Amino acid sequence: MSYIKLDALAETGYTVVDSYDQSADPREWENLVYVDWKSSGDTRFAPLASAYGDMECDGFWNHTPPKTDKDGVWVEENVAIAPRLTARAQEVGANIGRCRVIELQPNTYADAIYNLHRDDNNRLNPEGTGWIVRSFYNLTDNPDSVMILREDRDDPSTEVRVPLPAGTQVVIDTQRLYHAVWHSGSDPRYCLITSYESGPELKSWIQERHPVSSVESAPMSPEDISAGSAAAMAKRAQREAAGNAAQSASMGMEVLSEA
Ligand SMILES: [Fe+2]
Repeated sequence: MSYIKLDALAETGYTVVDSYDQSADPREWENLVYVDWKSSGDTRFAPLASAYGDMECDGFWNHTPPKTDKDGVWVEENVAIAPRLTARAQEVGANIGRCRVIELQPNTYADAIYNLHRDDNNRLNPEGTGWIVRSFYNLTDNPDSVMILREDRDDPSTEVRVPLPAGTQVVIDTQRLYHAVWHSGSDPRYCLITSYESGPELKSWIQERHPVSSVESAPMSPEDISAGSAAAMAKRAQREAAGNAAQSASMGMEVLSEA
């Protein structure tokens, strides 16, 4: 058995739909309660739905009892502050898991490449049910920032850079694609991220909004791409070396304690 997946994401793993008119919306994200939660880069999160309705952002499997990234429970305090954002998340009609606003501080292209990761959306998700994917609604106007997507983390030729003006709406299979945002502004970027179960509701919501499964990347010179990728790989190698050294040190300790 396998999971129910959407045709709209089959080819590239993402789809960009019609933009939302963010200019007509109140800036609810400015008043939300944020908790420190390190994701890709310097971030904080404001949970709208969490595993059991608490003001926290941990993976649903990391709770007692553990659960898959579905059946999120609304966090009353933040829902009261952001009824519009909550309504936007609910508008899709699909089962929602984690739902939160991310605050991301400005970073560099090299930072974003270093931060590329895949999400663990489907842990404990029973086969035969819908594959969990995520929507990203850009709230602030960040036309010079991009969502970087790569099918292969270390292969820049697989890279797509989706520009993020206000109202951009992207649905991404983030367990398939490596992803991270390069935010080049001076103020933080805010985005509503929601985990949805793939199925007829999400399919219709996408279909009704003129989905595009391949967008033209924001322009960037090949030199800048190579320089950023090289810097990220060097930093990663450094981290791995430090990790190995720490592991060897602790193994040495074990040997000593055995002796
Ligand atoms: Fe992610």
